[in-house]
Amino acid sequence: MKRIGMLTSGGDCQALNAAMRGVGKTLFQSGEEVEIYGFLDGYKGLIYGDFKMLNHSDFSGILTKGGTILGTSRTPFKQIREPDEKGNDKVECMKQTYYKLKLDCLVILGGNGTHKTANLLREEGLNVITLPKTIDNDLWGTDMTFGFQSAVNIATECIDCIHTTASSHGRVFIVEVMGHKVGYLTLNAGMAGGADIILIPEIPYDLNKVIAKIEERSKNGSHFTILAVAEGAISKEDAKLSKKEYKEKMKNYKYPSVSYEIAARITEKTGQEVRVTVPGHTQRGGSPCPYDRVFASRLGSEAGKLILKGEYGFMVGYKNREIVKVPLEDVAGKLKMVAPDAAIVKEAKMLGISFGD
Ligand code: F6P
Repeated sequence: MKRIGMLTSGGDCQALNAAMRGVGKTLFQSGEEVEIYGFLDGYKGLIYGDFKMLNHSDFSGILTKGGTILGTSRTPFKQIREPDEKGNDKVECMKQTYYKLKLDCLVILGGNGTHKTANLLREEGLNVITLPKTIDNDLWGTDMTFGFQSAVNIATECIDCIHTTASSHGRVFIVEVMGHKVGYLTLNAGMAGGADIILIPEIPYDLNKVIAKIEERSKNGSHFTILAVAEGAISKEDAKLSKKEYKEKMKNYKYPSVSYEIAARITEKTGQEVRVTVPGHTQRGGSPCPYDRVFASRLGSEAGKLILKGEYGFMVGYKNREIVKVPLEDVAGKLKMVAPDAAIVKEAKMLGISFGD
């Protein structure tokens, strides 16, 4: 008999259900006796023992369903060692739930913050297997996370739609793509959507260079320009500020987000009309794309295989076109970022795309 706890934590994304289905189907089909405890709303469910039993039928009909059948929440790692409002030690509570239910293993689906807590639970002696989810594709140890390709599709579609209206009106358009720290999503959607300028956190921009690109396009007869701007795009001046100075500056920030600031500054300097579109959480929503359905199913199935073999303490990831197991201690606390000199960035530049640098 294997007793498995499962939870999804952090911001949701497409294919969470597909991944859980991969684990569930693999386990139920193995012939081994299995009980699966689905903890509700992320680590909260594990802390407070809030779960529902997941049967074979719970994993049917969810391959194409967005969101997560277990619900999710953010439990910041920084606060995990702090007692809750009632003074409970959250880590101890999670351990108690695990031991009380006599679990053999936890399957945890999440991104960066989630992996720090998963690794902490491993250090505390629990058996843990994780699966890499996030539209940001910023998890260290895996070339790809599920959710990413689906989000690229949605952000690209948004840029595609903006293209037609931008060319009709001869305006500058900014599409703000998700990603506070890492620009994979903006870079890929920007390239796929034919953006003229791509601004990502890893490559601080110079507004004069951005404007020069817009003007160059006008001179060459293109009367519109599209910018794909990551939520966390940062100017060269701001990138020089210390964390403290930057925080201070943001206290008096008058724009809803960085795109609106860039828009205002472009208008101020060029007189051009600029419009901002923020697809926001639509990028995390809806049905997973076929790539993510297959990818998440494969990861889930490999996780099931590890559980059956009793191999714990790994994230199931993807490296050089192979599904691999990566030790959790190697993943936790590390961010995978776009290298400013990565081949894809160089190729984008050769296509004439400006990064404002
Ligand atoms: O971590 C995924 C992500 O969608 C980021 O791209 C985005 O910046 C953030 O979550 C938004 O978080 P929330 O849903 O908490 O607003």
